[in-house]
Amino acid sequence: MSLKSAATKVVRNIVEAAPDSWMPGAKPDPLITQHKHGHKGGLIGAPISRVDGPLKVRGAAPFAAEFPVTGMLYAAVAFSTIPKGRMTELDTAAAEAAPGVRLVMTYKNAPKLKPTPIFNSKPKAAGPDDLPIMQDDRIHWNGQPIAVVLADTQEEADHAKSLIRVSYQAEPAVTHFNEALQHPRELDDIMMEPARVKVGDAEAALAAAPHRVDLTYRTPRYNHNPIELHAVTLFWDDGELYIHDASQGVVQTAWTLAQVFGLDEKQVHISSPYVGGGFGSKTLWHHHVLAAAASKLSGQPVRCVLSREGVYRTVGGRTVTEQRVAIGSDAEGHFASLIHTGTTAMTPHNNLPEQFSFPARHAYASPNLSIGQNVADMDMLANTFMRAPGESVGTFALECAVDELAEQLDIDPIELRLRNEPEKDPASGKPFSSRNVEKMFRDGAERFGWSERSSTPATRRDGEWLIGMGCAEGTYPYYRMPGAKATLTLTSDGRAVASFSAHEMGMGTATVQAQIVAERLGLTLPCVSISYGNSSIDGTVLAGGSSQTASVGAAVIAAHTELVKKLIQLAGKDSPLHGLKPDEVDTRDGGIWSLADPSRGETFAAIFHRSGQEEVTVVGDPPPPLEMMHWAMHSFSAVFVEVGVNTVTGETRVRRMLGSFDCGKILNSKTAASQFRGGMIMGVGLALMEETQWDERNGRVMNPSLAEYHVPVHMDIPEIDILWTDIPDPHAPMGAHGIGEIGITGVGAAISNAIYNACGKRVRDLPITLDKLLD
Ligand code: MOS
Repeated sequence: MSLKSAATKVVRNIVEAAPDSWMPGAKPDPLITQHKHGHKGGLIGAPISRVDGPLKVRGAAPFAAEFPVTGMLYAAVAFSTIPKGRMTELDTAAAEAAPGVRLVMTYKNAPKLKPTPIFNSKPKAAGPDDLPIMQDDRIHWNGQPIAVVLADTQEEADHAKSLIRVSYQAEPAVTHFNEALQHPRELDDIMMEPARVKVGDAEAALAAAPHRVDLTYRTPRYNHNPIELHAVTLFWDDGELYIHDASQGVVQTAWTLAQVFGLDEKQVHISSPYVGGGFGSKTLWHHHVLAAAASKLSGQPVRCVLSREGVYRTVGGRTVTEQRVAIGSDAEGHFASLIHTGTTAMTPHNNLPEQFSFPARHAYASPNLSIGQNVADMDMLANTFMRAPGESVGTFALECAVDELAEQLDIDPIELRLRNEPEKDPASGKPFSSRNVEKMFRDGAERFGWSERSSTPATRRDGEWLIGMGCAEGTYPYYRMPGAKATLTLTSDGRAVASFSAHEMGMGTATVQAQIVAERLGLTLPCVSISYGNSSIDGTVLAGGSSQTASVGAAVIAAHTELVKKLIQLAGKDSPLHGLKPDEVDTRDGGIWSLADPSRGETFAAIFHRSGQEEVTVVGDPPPPLEMMHWAMHSFSAVFVEVGVNTVTGETRVRRMLGSFDCGKILNSKTAASQFRGGMIMGVGLALMEETQWDERNGRVMNPSLAEYHVPVHMDIPEIDILWTDIPDPHAPMGAHGIGEIGITGVGAAISNAIYNACGKRVRDLPITLDKLLD
């Protein structure tokens, strides 16, 4: 165990044993209930349309590759075609002589660059790997950037790139997953969680159980495909670096680039007002470093938009997994043993194992547990966060196995799940902060018409289609990240501006945070504006791990408290508010009022008028997120699917889908439903279509385009019904859990289980394409 994980364990033990009252979130956020009392604006949970909607519709929301910069050059990136070895010849003469070319950068002329500190190695580290970037002739993966061409136009840059000639001396590389599996590597921890959880003797209990399943599941590589390609528009001015980026972590990107270029983090300025889809991929990759280096070398601003192929070659996605799920139970379905183990491919240069073993830690009660995972090193591009990393493929294996056990026992799969509902978190023994899985399942089952399902497969027909229903459960952890801050300004004309370094990837960040600020301050929505997506804003926020809303929300709570304190101070000794503390008052109706005596108080306007001040600005610095170590905090899903499997072609069509969610208080019913649906559509891709075709001979991605990497289109998606419990978590800011990643979680298994119910075939390796159903 590393020193860091040992230290984390000590803190964790203290926090787990501490009384509830010491925890952030010990007292429920007043917003959970205040809006019900009528004197607030009723904004929490309301179906408010996106505040950035009109800008988007008019094409007036600027993206990273749309910012005009005078004198800008266009970049094209050339990629290696072998997985490992060195370049013996790199001839750029023809490229340099091509029309419009201003610079060809290779390892021979690139400035000195330090490797990027990798994720989780430091609080603001955002590097995908710790490899040298264009510093030597070494090749580490098939697709590694080997040259950057700068030219007056994109077409000239692309053409010149095609003239680069390179010879390699290849070295033996690990490009077969099956070969890598022979040499698994144990991990100290997985994203600060223990790599293994063992309770009792799971193998012995499995062997002794009267009923058991013991199955192997495989999931393929997947790639990110945001509609907005990864792009930077950047320039240097007076030794400082300015970047228009598409980013899920502006502060982390600035800090990490500062390490690469030997700068102070404040000398790197990242702006990212809009992101055209991220899903885990819009973090820092080599093109950031290379574009900045080429700009430095050429002395001119640079725009670098990765081609779609470039995204496949240089932006990591989800890595391949092999998973074992074994469950032993008695005849009534009570689990005696739960085993979820396996291996995921990774590189020695990154540290993000696909954490597929996370969901089994929190889903079911079992006296014996063995849960954990290894990694198998391969010579490949660093994998990264992708659409509920771990959980989405981990629940595929776990929830298919539960379905197989249910069939063996002849118990309804929902009943089997509910019979094993845990009282406490199975892995840690901690109490759940909020868990309403039974209600979530029952509500979903009723609305979906689950009772119409036949438990005998291949018994429902519609012409040449066999029809089946399936369901699955999903979990995704609640995360609140440390480091978030919120700066709040209230002006004498009753307007508020809130800023935090958050990100808008299309999920409605600005809208929901405007609702929260307005509701908390008792203002109307048009009186609140939100500023975000810029590294110059105080505090650190990551749009990842479904954590952004809680992280920012806690900072807004802290800022609100500071604001009230400051306004009461400003109001002075003669104010009716004199002597009151922030938790004894409410901000509403344009002022501050005592909670005990609602007539005691005064308006913001009166306070400002008397003080002669025009505005007040405060910074909210929330307590560290200890609540997530003290309670087991998760979002939950119950996914219901009806499919048709064509008996002639083997094709699967999803006919109906329903997602029932337990994610605490839903803050905006319109943006939330949309985000849930989006996640479920990604789940259809995960289950039925998507696969990064990987050439095992040389580690080359064979389908680096949307023509050959299939994602669901409108014709593939039926009406998707969404419901939620809306039961607030008393220990979370606003009572809300993250909703970004729970949508996809469980969908893979629900579809697979529905396919089995339709046609009687179990396919345990994704994606479930028609060839696998026909053989
Ligand atoms: Mo999410 S995969 O952490 O953007």
